[in-house]
Amino acid sequence: MSTPAPSSPDRRTVLRGVAAAGVVGAAGLPLAACATEAGSKEIGPKAGDKGPETVGKLPEISVGAGKVFKDSKVVVVQPSKDVYKAYDARCPHQGCLVDEVKQGVVKCPCHGSQFDINDGSVVRGPAVQGLPELPMKVVDGEVVVG
Ligand code: FES
Repeated sequence: MSTPAPSSPDRRTVLRGVAAAGVVGAAGLPLAACATEAGSKEIGPKAGDKGPETVGKLPEISVGAGKVFKDSKVVVVQPSKDVYKAYDARCPHQGCLVDEVKQGVVKCPCHGSQFDINDGSVVRGPAVQGLPELPMKVVDGEVVVG
């Protein structure tokens, strides 16, 4: 008559291996989540990076509205009366050009991200970063960024 052997070393080894795999899996989870949450990528130099750049005439827009200067990839907005701001018009999500400014919000047509015209912050994703504000001034009625 034999008695069953206590837990065999092979079984303990297997259990340790499973536990270790669990630790690695748990440790890897935040990295995977970060990669997914980022949803943004570097989209290269922006208007004005190489010095002052004239993007066009100061638009006649109402408060809360704006205009996209497609060639320069700049959006100029008027958050309050006679206060104008310029932002990089390339969406930080995947680089599409924003195409509309309405009721205080800059909109991206590609996946629906929206940005506050007051500070460029994200109002609605999937973008997780806001639009970078560009230094701007008005010279002889022309918008100059950089
Ligand atoms: S590029 Fe995806 S929301 Fe703008």
